[in-house]
Amino acid sequence: MELKEYIYRRKSTRSYKKEPVDKETLQKIEDFIGEMKPLLPDVRYRCRLLPGGQVRSVLPWVPAHAAAIYTEDKKGALENAGFLLQQLDLYVQSLGFGACWLGMGSLPQEKRREDGLDLAMLLVFGIPKGEALRPGAADFRRKPMALIADRMDKKLECARLAPSSVNSQPWYFLHGVGAIHVYCALSGAFRKAVSRFNHIDMGIALCHLYLENEQTFRFFYAPDAPEQAGYAYIGSVQL
Ligand SMILES: Cc1cc2nc3c(=O)[nH]c(=O)nc-3n(C[C@H](O)[C@H](O)[C@H](O)COP(=O)(O)O)c2cc1C
Repeated sequence: MELKEYIYRRKSTRSYKKEPVDKETLQKIEDFIGEMKPLLPDVRYRCRLLPGGQVRSVLPWVPAHAAAIYTEDKKGALENAGFLLQQLDLYVQSLGFGACWLGMGSLPQEKRREDGLDLAMLLVFGIPKGEALRPGAADFRRKPMALIADRMDKKLECARLAPSSVNSQPWYFLHGVGAIHVYCALSGAFRKAVSRFNHIDMGIALCHLYLENEQTFRFFYAPDAPEQAGYAYIGSVQL
């Protein structure tokens, strides 16, 4: 199965065996990290594997491994981080491991910066206790297309199924001339800003659009993208 096919089978795993992944496989995962494609090539980032034991979290089930993504602070940096780490989420699941994004986790103070970059997010993974994949696309709990796009578009199905923090699914897609404009719901008390996690979520959905349209995908900022009440403009895609 190709990586993009795991978009329709992946899930968050929250129950793991204690054993670590073997060294050879961890090396394969390191190699994959070196080949991940960024959304924005001019944003500096690092992605590091760490033992899950280094993760600070109130959650009792943190598995044997974690991937930490560090980034510079720049427009689109969190979308870029989500875009990158989602490739890893799919990859480790393609190898039969369980994985889960971990907003409710951090690292010790001295591990929160690397090479002048700040820790943006963690993805944890390990050997699952049960089945790591969903039986199929019917098993996802997601908003219907009518709530996330101005019209039905099969090409957006992969984005509709993307994982997001607390399953918020903050995305909205508006068809323009030759491009789809991508928006994120504003959140917080006054609905004025996009949360850090939602920026990451947007990168995850964009990653799915990229994997399904690898040859043609283009992300750019369109100066004429219309405003959408209650949403912030994130960028536009050609698929
Ligand atoms: C940025 C981000 C942060 C998340 N943080 C957590 C977390 O701290 N704990 C947790 O159990 N799940 C976390 N999740 C997983 C989401 O709850 C999950 O992706 C969503 O409910 C959809 O379910 P699925 O991944 O099984 O499709 C996070 C997901 C994302 C994208």
